[in-house]
Amino acid sequence: MSDERERFLLRYSRGFAPFIVARASGAWLETTDGQRILDFTSGQICSTIGHNHPRIVEAVQQSLETVIHLNSWMLSQPVLELAERLVRLVPASLNRVILVNTGAEANEIALRIAKMHTGRFEIVGLTRSWHGLQAGTASLNLAGGHAGYGPAMPGSLTLPAPYAYRCPIRHCNGSCDCTCLDAGFDLVDQQSIGSLCAVIAEPVLSAGGIIVPPPQYFQRLRQLCDERGMLLILDEAQTGFGRLGTMFGFESFGVAPDILSVSKTLGGGVPLGATLTSAEIEEDCYGKGFMHVTSHVSDPLPAAAGLAVIDVIEQEGLVEQARQRGEYLLSRLRELQERHEQIGDVRGKGLLVGIELVEDRETRAPADAPGIAVGDECLRRGLSMNIVRSTGGMLNCFRMAPPLSITESEIDTAITIIDEAIMAVLAARSHRHATG
Ligand SMILES: Cc1ncc(COP(=O)(O)O)c(C=O)c1O
Repeated sequence: MSDERERFLLRYSRGFAPFIVARASGAWLETTDGQRILDFTSGQICSTIGHNHPRIVEAVQQSLETVIHLNSWMLSQPVLELAERLVRLVPASLNRVILVNTGAEANEIALRIAKMHTGRFEIVGLTRSWHGLQAGTASLNLAGGHAGYGPAMPGSLTLPAPYAYRCPIRHCNGSCDCTCLDAGFDLVDQQSIGSLCAVIAEPVLSAGGIIVPPPQYFQRLRQLCDERGMLLILDEAQTGFGRLGTMFGFESFGVAPDILSVSKTLGGGVPLGATLTSAEIEEDCYGKGFMHVTSHVSDPLPAAAGLAVIDVIEQEGLVEQARQRGEYLLSRLRELQERHEQIGDVRGKGLLVGIELVEDRETRAPADAPGIAVGDECLRRGLSMNIVRSTGGMLNCFRMAPPLSITESEIDTAITIIDEAIMAVLAARSHRHATG
């Protein structure tokens, strides 16, 4: 055991950060050693209004003094209010809500509703997607955590992700024309045993390397679903509540889903997820005996946090701010790209942004080891980002999702750190080559 801290913990990922966090506020973390770290992932992409926002603290404190948890058939005021607030934010067709805790849970509910309503069971997901690690979602969790746990859920089918920088069908070069979607559905049709139920997709594929589908993608997907009587499920765990510069991701793609799942960004750091669908689908499922009782369904405390998050996003104009700051971040990263040959691609929407490091822009060979070194160097200099896989499992895409409240000067700080980290890693590499 290399790390004393791992004595009692089950290791659930590549490893633990080389520090212990003492406190968090806004976009900043402070370690027990007194280092300040700029958190460009908003925790696990949840703390969109900044860590420990006073309004969340106040809402949680109030719940601690009134009611934290209830039997699942008992309702409280925050739950009723949050359900109404959510319904008022989305298209009129999405007017029934269930409140749970995690993204996987909200998606599992979406799958259960889709299956019960259609009477079919084949669910189509996109490659490079992340939808959670419960049994159903894990079967469609193709960006990671897929292998080694036995059979996937029967009826799990896939479409190629519209990854324009590395076109999955070697057709486009940098700008997707949706041929992958049509070709993908052709494969789905041939594999289907005649029980096509739903497609589940993220508006921007985040864990898959910040893949932004082209503007026409979801309308075409909607059409393909409608032609087959399939439902469209959108998973807005990361993209909901302002991150893309619109309240929801689907708004900028001109479609409305049949089922919408939201989570991470709704609780602002407190575990909260929700699944929304139409009254017609809800009525049908209820009539068929739909059941999804969990320990924390309709809990008052997370609902109170969710209400505070929506209040802050609306009152502080964070949706528009995310759009503006996202453009600023993208433009600063494009400046860096002009100086560093190793930044092969800069992409994103709103404040969900990624860069992909390559060995050389012509071949686009992914820069795996240098990618990891740049990430480590950024962290050493006080910037935390996520590194995710691009092609062939290479760790060379950086994912940035700072709080929507990030300032331009904090973005400038991050850009300076990335710039210096790339230079330091390249200098160390050429020194190693020079000294053999
Ligand atoms: C798009 C998306 N959906 C669902 C999930 C799963 O959420 P949770 O980890 O809360 O179960 C994630 C987690 O990263 C996600 O990014």
